[in-house]
Amino acid sequence: MRISVIGTGYLGAVHAAGMAELGFDVVGIDVDQAKIDALREGRSPFYEPDLEPLLRKHVDSGKLTFSTDLSDAAGADVHFVCVGTPQKRDGLAADMTYVEQSIEALAAHLTEPTLVVGKSTVPVGSAAQLQARLIELAPAGEGAELAWNPEFLREGFAVEDTLRPDRLVFGVRSDRAEQLLRKVYATALAADTPLVVTDFPTAELVKSSANAFLATKISFINAISEICEVTGADVTALADALGHDARIGRKFLNAGIGFGGGCLPKDIRAFIARAGEIGAAHALTFLGEVDAINMRRRQRVVEIAGELLDNHVSGRRVAVLGAAFKPHSDDIRDSPALSVAGELHLHGAEVSVYDPKAMDNARRIFPTLRYAESAIDACRDADVVLHLTEWPEFREVDPAVLGEVVAQRNVVDGRNCLDREAWRAAGWTYRGLGRP
Ligand code: UDX
Repeated sequence: MRISVIGTGYLGAVHAAGMAELGFDVVGIDVDQAKIDALREGRSPFYEPDLEPLLRKHVDSGKLTFSTDLSDAAGADVHFVCVGTPQKRDGLAADMTYVEQSIEALAAHLTEPTLVVGKSTVPVGSAAQLQARLIELAPAGEGAELAWNPEFLREGFAVEDTLRPDRLVFGVRSDRAEQLLRKVYATALAADTPLVVTDFPTAELVKSSANAFLATKISFINAISEICEVTGADVTALADALGHDARIGRKFLNAGIGFGGGCLPKDIRAFIARAGEIGAAHALTFLGEVDAINMRRRQRVVEIAGELLDNHVSGRRVAVLGAAFKPHSDDIRDSPALSVAGELHLHGAEVSVYDPKAMDNARRIFPTLRYAESAIDACRDADVVLHLTEWPEFREVDPAVLGEVVAQRNVVDGRNCLDREAWRAAGWTYRGLGRP
């Protein structure tokens, strides 16, 4: 079976490599020449653990090719659409331009019956419209069928999540579409991966709801952490106790600086916007609060840093450990770490940032910050150290060694995962979020 993957970003590049690993002949298409040049050499244009060896293996074997020319996708049995749906510049809604453009451009090449599978996160109702557009534009007419197959991969674990997904969702309108998708995912299905076969709107909504639920869970614990701050309770012990209830579970209950990235923030906003468009705004008003709680956490870190600096931020040195929105990724989209770094810089602080993988991306978006060579270098002469992305190397840093290079031993643990007692024992003033 031949597969095309349109869009080779964080989702598409991993999906293309994963499909090749499963034994298919795959062509990845993207408009970005530099990205395609890198991929053709088996290099990943972004950092994602385990991706590069997979790319190299299948580029070398010839199973995986890349092109900027959409006509190279023609003739594939299944086309996966993996382009981005970022937040619109002028509102909360998702910008559907890339999805619409790629499906319309692809349609012109569909002369034979084929299946186009949307994986991008889209507002509910999009698939039905896109199916109508496909039939209208494709020479194959009704032979050009659409399916919606949302993707749940987590950055940092994207290869694992692609090869061994925790569930599969097929939004389909025909048995033929279902059977083709069953062939594509035969390996995962043989391993008893749960499968939900459903209609378009349900498939689209599964993804929006999953991300809304995860965001709500994080904002829930962050709201409780605000209460902890007032009452002197410890949100990490509280989350451990809540997590022992199997109905609640401990995952996604880590209070701290909040969620960021290319998915959760923009997906809850797009969901709110879509609910408004379909006359159901009231159903999702709570997601506006989820968003607000999340953004307040960033502000809180700025406040705590200010408190540790006796409210004289201007001219003071601030070390920021972390730039990526989460560890094991170089993705800085809506990164809480960089938004705090940027805000303190605007208040006049001299901010020095270090991240093991996200330095180039951070430099591009925030060129006015200082970028250090290492965690120690970032902390040299710092008046306060902010731990904002929980990379293992930051957690393992020896507070006594770090204490030798800073001007003042002040640390804000924005992820509540440093060893508080060890830092205090080494003479640091430790401040977590929602912890006494
Ligand atoms: C998310 C979804 O998990 C994934 O299923 C979907 O396909 C895409 O969006 P991702 O953006 O890679 O994946 O990151 P995720 O691991 O969900 O973390 C999102 C953010 O929440 C990160 O900034 C992370 O630091 C933060 N987070 C996560 C918390 O603040 N607390 C937690 O307990 C968990």
